[in-house]
Amino acid sequence: MYSLIVLHGIFLACAYSGGSNLNSIPRKIIQYEDDHVIMFKEEGVWNYSTMLIREDLGLLVLGAREAIYALDINDISVAKSKVPWKVTEEKQKECTSKGKHPDIDCRNYVRMLHQMNDSLMYVCGTNAFSPTCDYITYSDGQLKLEGKQEDGRGKCPFDPFQRSSSVMVDQDLYSATTLNFLGSEPVILRLSPFPLRTVFKSSWLNEPNFVYMDVVQESEDSPEGDDDKVYMFFSENAVEYDFYNKLVVSRVARVCKGDMGGQRTLQRKWTSFLKTRLDCSVPEPSLPYIIQDVFHVRHKKWRKSVFYAVFTSQSSSTDRSSAVCAYNVTDISEVFSRGKFKTEVTVEMSDVKWVMYNGELPVPRPGACINNAAKSAGIMRSLDLPDKTLQFIRDHPLMDDAVRPITGKPLLLKRGALLTRLVVDDVTAPDGQSYPVMFIGTENGCVQKAVNYDGEMHIIEEVKLFQNAAPIDVLRLHQNQLYAGSASGVVQMPVSSCSRYFSCVDCVLARDPYCAWDVTVQRCSRVPTSPEKSKGHLIQSLKDGDATRCPSTAPVEPKIQTLVLGNNIRLLCHPDSNLAQVTWNFAGKPLPYSNRKYTISNEGILIYNASTTDAGRYTCMSVERVKGRDYTQTLAIYDLCEQSAAVGTDKIKTTLGILFESYTTSSGLHKPEEPPSYSKNLSSERKWIVMQVVLAVLSVMMACLLIWNLYMGHISPFMCCGRQSIKSPRNLPEREYMHTGNDYVDGKQQMARPCVTTNSGLEVTSFHRNITNGDTPTDIFILKNITEESEI
Ligand SMILES: *[C@@H]1O[C@H](CO)[C@@H](O)[C@H](O)[C@H]1NC(C)=O
Ligand SMILES: *[C@@H]1O[C@H](CO)[C@@H](O)[C@H](O)[C@H]1NC(C)=O
Ligand SMILES: *[C@@H]1O[C@H](CO)[C@@H](O)[C@H](O)[C@H]1NC(C)=O
Ligand SMILES: *[C@@H]1O[C@H](CO)[C@@H](O)[C@H](O)[C@H]1NC(C)=O
Repeated sequence: MYSLIVLHGIFLACAYSGGSNLNSIPRKIIQYEDDHVIMFKEEGVWNYSTMLIREDLGLLVLGAREAIYALDINDISVAKSKVPWKVTEEKQKECTSKGKHPDIDCRNYVRMLHQMNDSLMYVCGTNAFSPTCDYITYSDGQLKLEGKQEDGRGKCPFDPFQRSSSVMVDQDLYSATTLNFLGSEPVILRLSPFPLRTVFKSSWLNEPNFVYMDVVQESEDSPEGDDDKVYMFFSENAVEYDFYNKLVVSRVARVCKGDMGGQRTLQRKWTSFLKTRLDCSVPEPSLPYIIQDVFHVRHKKWRKSVFYAVFTSQSSSTDRSSAVCAYNVTDISEVFSRGKFKTEVTVEMSDVKWVMYNGELPVPRPGACINNAAKSAGIMRSLDLPDKTLQFIRDHPLMDDAVRPITGKPLLLKRGALLTRLVVDDVTAPDGQSYPVMFIGTENGCVQKAVNYDGEMHIIEEVKLFQNAAPIDVLRLHQNQLYAGSASGVVQMPVSSCSRYFSCVDCVLARDPYCAWDVTVQRCSRVPTSPEKSKGHLIQSLKDGDATRCPSTAPVEPKIQTLVLGNNIRLLCHPDSNLAQVTWNFAGKPLPYSNRKYTISNEGILIYNASTTDAGRYTCMSVERVKGRDYTQTLAIYDLCEQSAAVGTDKIKTTLGILFESYTTSSGLHKPEEPPSYSKNLSSERKWIVMQVVLAVLSVMMACLLIWNLYMGHISPFMCCGRQSIKSPRNLPEREYMHTGNDYVDGKQQMARPCVTTNSGLEVTSFHRNITNGDTPTDIFILKNITEESEI
């Protein structure tokens, strides 16, 4: 009970105030389209999970299941070479006989790729639960496996579903994985003339899940003569908290590059292995979040380098939340070099607790690299370290202080699909400042592009990269291109697509560091790499989201739309941003949202069972609130003009017929009721009808003529009559363009669907590709069809 309270004190009360929005909504959602990404996959090959960028060769070397590819880095759909790396039948049998699945487990999953020197790469695969490594060369456009078949134990996991991590530092391989078939013997080792490994003790590693490691050149510019360090990130079962259940915590650990192990104590073991807890506390009470991936943003001065890490909630079955935290390398280094240690004490007979160690530390400080002070005391190598220091480190690898994130809180919090991987690009904007742009992969095949502006989380866009909802397993960033791998394939995408923003306000409110509104060409453009050149004519406001400098736009042309009594009428209006609120005015007053007559969604409104009283002017406006300023834009104006649905003339009959025919065929589900005025009116007030008919025919013909003329003269769009069904460009479902239809669209559901598979976003982006100014795009299509109609 006591420990539970302690735990509460540590995690559950770690809430901070402010920034309480636990659900960042992407401003734009870009649905999957195969033309906004470059894709590579080969039939029958899966699990594209390992990547190595070879800038010198212009290659993306890609490891998949039983194959390695050399792809053109500029266009990954071009495979320059492939080398298969299959398991032997014998190995597969052996693996199957141990109870593993022949097709899932007993294959060779390439899990490690490193560059050795200009001509040689090192590759490891799981090889049917028998990890194996080999060398690869690339020459004359051909990848070649050397066939050396080295033992891969300790470099690559046995189990393809187990995470592992490795880094090559000066030809020495550092790797973190498990050493045995069962995956129960974790190890962090270095393969070099002085091979070293961790002690097999739960206080060192306790069922860890390794996610990342990298080297930091801390010897540079070090007055103490410090050594370079290799940092590793993982999650593991906590030893320091006893909880009713296993409690997983996130860790950062490090070793010194110059470590050579101890002489008697810690022989061939790390003498500099220290670890501590990584804190990424979310505002809501919860168990600690678990680290999933890390990205190292290197700076020329290592003290300014930052590790970005993505975390997911521990109880992800009930709470699907993720967070991104950033850590200052200096802060991490400080905890290890100056922080307190934790020590084990026995309380109440046999219960063991980890508490802060307050006793005296042996000299040299346990875990410290061999620095100037140690050398001046005659300790030139770790082999010379006194037993006292070594014994202490063997028993106390855990630090007392946790590493807190920069600014003390997450940079991003997100509910919904879990975040899996991340990369970060430091972008220098025209204001001269640099902004880290995070690209974060999700478990359902999307990438979130996010920035944190002075504590304010902002997801610029969510892009669906894969048609299926497979998790993103690997992300790489290289020269403004993002590479993402999943079980089903690899995609390449530019880091920005500024042309997605059509208006200045949209471009500026996107707050995308790569994009700015170029006043001279009236386009949202990629910011040039030398920002000084373009200062004058670019509008960008990242921190403030201030679009007031945007030139005013031409007023929206009203569009005339026919009101057919008794029909359901759809008026389209799609806001540029998911963060905008859409409001509709009818005859100058706000539309009564509570009225069941209307369904209001992100696509527009649907007016049920139109009657005479529904005729009038409808105005669709979006209001986007950024930093306390409201940006109101009129997106569309419709003049709904009544047209009596009378009979007596073939012309009208035909028009109506086509209208309803297209309605039935396109919706396919609902057969419309006969328009109420159709037969009733015919029998009763005949004279009145005849007059109405004559009037209607006249107006219809006039309108059609007008439209035809307008269209031929390429003047602004109008519509009043004629067939509303259109030929869909690509795969757009027709019903979206119909002004009749019974399908119910739920407004809330449409607001911010986190990467769901639906067509609506696709439709939107597709129309947008076809327009150049602020007009509602649909009308372009409708207009075309009206012309076709009147030509018949
Ligand atoms: C690369 O390394 C291998 C093995 O260490 C060595 O045999 C080869 O000569 C090296 N090649 C170059 C170009 O340095
Ligand atoms: C990290 O901390 C160091 C020392 O406090 C500081 O100089 C550096 O600017 C910090 N880096 C970042 C990215 O905050
Ligand atoms: C490999 O890909 C298959 C097919 O998509 C997937 O079901 C499986 O989970 C993947 N395996 C690993 C180890 O990622
Ligand atoms: C449509 O409205 C008319 C009156 O405006 C009403 O008589 C009729 O019942 C309504 N139809 C439906 C299906 O609600």
